[in-house]
Amino acid sequence: MTTVLVLNGPNLGRLGAREPDIYGSGTLDDLRAKLEGEASGLQIDLRQTDSEAELIGWLHEAVDLRLSVILNPAAFTHYSYALSDAAKLVTAAGLILVEVHLSNPHAREEFRHTSVISSVATGVIAGFGFDSYSLALDLVQRRLG
Ligand code: DQA
Repeated sequence: MTTVLVLNGPNLGRLGAREPDIYGSGTLDDLRAKLEGEASGLQIDLRQTDSEAELIGWLHEAVDLRLSVILNPAAFTHYSYALSDAAKLVTAAGLILVEVHLSNPHAREEFRHTSVISSVATGVIAGFGFDSYSLALDLVQRRLG
């Protein structure tokens, strides 16, 4: 079965408790269950890390194993050129990488208006809570299908 990596950056392990007015009350386990329910013929491999190095390693893994990626880079979105370079490796290999955000960063503080990931991503979905991921999964399924 084809695997889709659903990668989550720093502080997203705190979903459910972290600023629920912005990020909602669901946890990462809730998100995993939702995506597993929506995936047809695809294996969901959802991971979270607070470590930039680990996240970069997972993007390298995506390249080596030729996996599609749904990526919420969290705060790394706004400043990690290392993560940007790793994301570029994924799309340069002809693989799909969808940047997702639970909130709409453009409607928030100024520092969140910049993404160093968007220009190297296949596309971006933001502002729809867990549905941002569901829409990304739908897109991956259409592209792979
Ligand atoms: C986020 C938005 C980022 O600005 C923030 O640092 C996050 C979460 C989102 O999903 O809305 O941690 O990526």
